[in-house]
Amino acid sequence: MRRIDSVMEAVGNTPLVRLRHVVPASRAVRVLCKLEFQNPGGSVKDRAALRMMRDALADGRLTPEKTLIDSTSGNTGVAYSLFGAALGVRVKLVMPSNVSQPRKEITRAFGTEIIYSDPLEGSDGAMRIAREMVASAPDVYFYPDQYSNPSNPRAHYEGTGQEIIDAVGSEITHFVAGLGTTGTMMGTAKRLHEHSRSIRCVAVEPAEAMHGLEGLKHMGSSIVPPIYDARMHDDLVSVMTEDGWDMAELLASKEGLLVGHSSGANVHVAVQIAKRAMAEGREACIVAIVADRGDRYFAPMKWEKRYVW
Ligand SMILES: Cc1ncc(COP(=O)(O)O)c(C=O)c1O
Repeated sequence: MRRIDSVMEAVGNTPLVRLRHVVPASRAVRVLCKLEFQNPGGSVKDRAALRMMRDALADGRLTPEKTLIDSTSGNTGVAYSLFGAALGVRVKLVMPSNVSQPRKEITRAFGTEIIYSDPLEGSDGAMRIAREMVASAPDVYFYPDQYSNPSNPRAHYEGTGQEIIDAVGSEITHFVAGLGTTGTMMGTAKRLHEHSRSIRCVAVEPAEAMHGLEGLKHMGSSIVPPIYDARMHDDLVSVMTEDGWDMAELLASKEGLLVGHSSGANVHVAVQIAKRAMAEGREACIVAIVADRGDRYFAPMKWEKRYVW
C-alpha cells in the first residue's frame, strides 16, 4: 500500500499488463500494455498537463493570480481541471458548443469555467478564441500550448520512458504509441533510444484525415506540432478507424480492458508486430500505450445529484 500526500503523486507508475487473448500464445513474443487510464484523470495526458503546470509555476510563467486557459475539450482539459483544483489554479477552457455533454460535465465538476466557441469553426475556432484572449490580457492568462511546450515530452522522457525501462529493462524490443501532440512518442522514444538504440519506436497515426481515432492526428493534413521530430521514431504506421475500433472492442470482451479507440489502434499495430515476429521465429517484447478508458466515449453520461434506491 502506497501512501501519498496529494493526488499529484498518483500520476505515473502505471502498470504494464500482458495481453493473453488478442494475440496468439507464445513464450517468445509478448505484448504489454501500459495502462495510462490508471492516472487520476484517467488518461496519459495527466503526465503532460501536470508537468507543464508545475514547470510554469516553478519559473513564474504561472502564478496563483493567473488563469490557465486552453482550447482542449479532451483528456488534456480533464487533466488541467483536476490539477488546477489540486494546485489552486483557476482554469478556463474554450470548446466548441457542440462538444458532447460528458466532456463539459467532467471539466465543470472540477470547477473549470467553459467558454463556448462557434461549433462551425471546430477546434480551430476554439484555439483562435483562446489565443485572442491571451493576446488581449497576457498578464491575466497562462497559455500552456501543449503542442510547443517542451515540458510535454519531458514528462514522458522522465516518466513513461524511465518507467518502461525500470519494468522491462533490456527485454523491450518495440514501443508503440499514437501521435496527437506527439509528446508521448517524442519523450518516451528519446529515453528508450538512450537506453538502447535497437528498440524500435513505432508511431501510430490515423490512415485518413477524417477519422474516428480521437486523440490522434493525421500528420499529412494537420498543423505539425513544433515539438514533433519525425527522426525520433523508427516507423510510422497508418491505422484505419475500423481496425482501432475493432481492437478496442476485442480488448474489452477478451482481456477485460475497456479502452479508447486510440488505444485500440496502438494495440492493433502491436499485435501485427507480434504476429510478424512469430512468423519469422524472432523473440519480441512489445510495449503499447493504452491512453485512456473507453467509458469516456459513452454518451450521454451525465453526472447528476440523485439518489439510487
Ligand atoms: C486518447 C488519446 N490518445 C492519444 C493521445 C496522443 O498523445 P500525445 O498528445 O502525447 O501525442 C491523446 C492526446 O490527447 C489522447 O487524448
